[in-house]
Amino acid sequence: MGEQEPNDQEKKPENAHEQLSSGSSSNTEQRANECILRAFNTERKTEGFDAFDPSGYLELYYSALLPEVAVQLKDLIKKIETREGIKTMISLQDLGQLLISEKKEQNFETLENYLIYDFMIRKVVPRILQDIPEDHLRILDVGGGPSIYQHIPLFGIADTIRHGEFLSQNREVVKKWKSGEKGHEWQTFFQCWKISQRQSLAEMGGDPEIKARIEQMLGMEDTALEDMLRASLTEVMSIDVFRTDLGIEEQESTQDLSHVSREGSVELLTSNFCIESATADIATWQNGIKNISAQVLPGKFLSMTAIRNAEWYKVGETRMDAVSIDADRLALELMSQNFEILELTELIGTQEQKEKDGYDGMIFVLAKKKEAPK
Ligand SMILES: C[S@@+](CC[C@H](N)C(=O)[O-])C[C@H]1O[C@@H](n2cnc3c(N)ncnc32)[C@H](O)[C@@H]1O
Repeated sequence: MGEQEPNDQEKKPENAHEQLSSGSSSNTEQRANECILRAFNTERKTEGFDAFDPSGYLELYYSALLPEVAVQLKDLIKKIETREGIKTMISLQDLGQLLISEKKEQNFETLENYLIYDFMIRKVVPRILQDIPEDHLRILDVGGGPSIYQHIPLFGIADTIRHGEFLSQNREVVKKWKSGEKGHEWQTFFQCWKISQRQSLAEMGGDPEIKARIEQMLGMEDTALEDMLRASLTEVMSIDVFRTDLGIEEQESTQDLSHVSREGSVELLTSNFCIESATADIATWQNGIKNISAQVLPGKFLSMTAIRNAEWYKVGETRMDAVSIDADRLALELMSQNFEILELTELIGTQEQKEKDGYDGMIFVLAKKKEAPK
């Protein structure tokens, strides 16, 4: 991407949890970041994304899951996960070994998908239901790509889901899926969601009516569930994460804007593998985080996943630029945007994976925006 790379990452403290426990973030650091941001064109558009091929992307990252792995997943994860402060760490290699010994070999990309679902079902959904027991949850997904897997664990608790994406070819794929056209196969994702959600339902708090509704959904046919998600997905819209209002207000200028306010507009913003995959520049990444943070209402939630330590990642045979971050770096950035970190999970991959895929793990975070302004 060719811009000058500010040497910003080196200035960050080693461990976000020292800051999480002391509750103090460095003002100097924040001011330095603000200066860097001002020095860059913060309205920059994503470059080099023309090469993004939706089918190649879906084939590589979202191949079919095995329902029998979902059955065992929770117990397998419990065997290998470790804690450091509030951070949970999971070694992908250890999980892979356990599955090989169970004769259920899976590639890294598939393993990662089980773990994303585990995080959403066991950590994100129960925590949100604690605070928002009724179904008044408006979800905005930013950089949703051509995929819908991310909506499956959430649509049972959502009022509406809006799918925001930069590339028209990706929006087209989701629109076609919404209209019922045959496309990528998501059936095994619905099946794995049902298995893991059933396991977690008993331990979950929240409004009995919502729990009863989820229970009812778990008894539905996959095709009926898919239709239900199509109805919950109210909009597939154009979004640019590097614009201060994500470009939403501009698109909606002829519509009723009563739900859009300076204080934010949604109870849950989801963004998976978007911002760090859309730029190779750390200041631009920070700007993207700032822009999505502004969309979250005070006291409400942000759920994000990101690739870890990536300089690039693959879409088909093409290498796309990425910005290199880890869990502590992401947590610090969200804290500087007035978020409290509720859950932080780091998947630790291997050097071999980094050479093959360009990244060596993943970061999953659930954060809650503080009520008081910064
Ligand atoms: C790695 S993909 C992730 C897609 C999907 N969220 C997933 O979990 O598979 C990154 C996505 O970010 C989108 N993207 C790139 N630049 C963007 C921008 N400026 N604003 C919003 N989305 C963008 C890309 O088009 C792509 O769909």
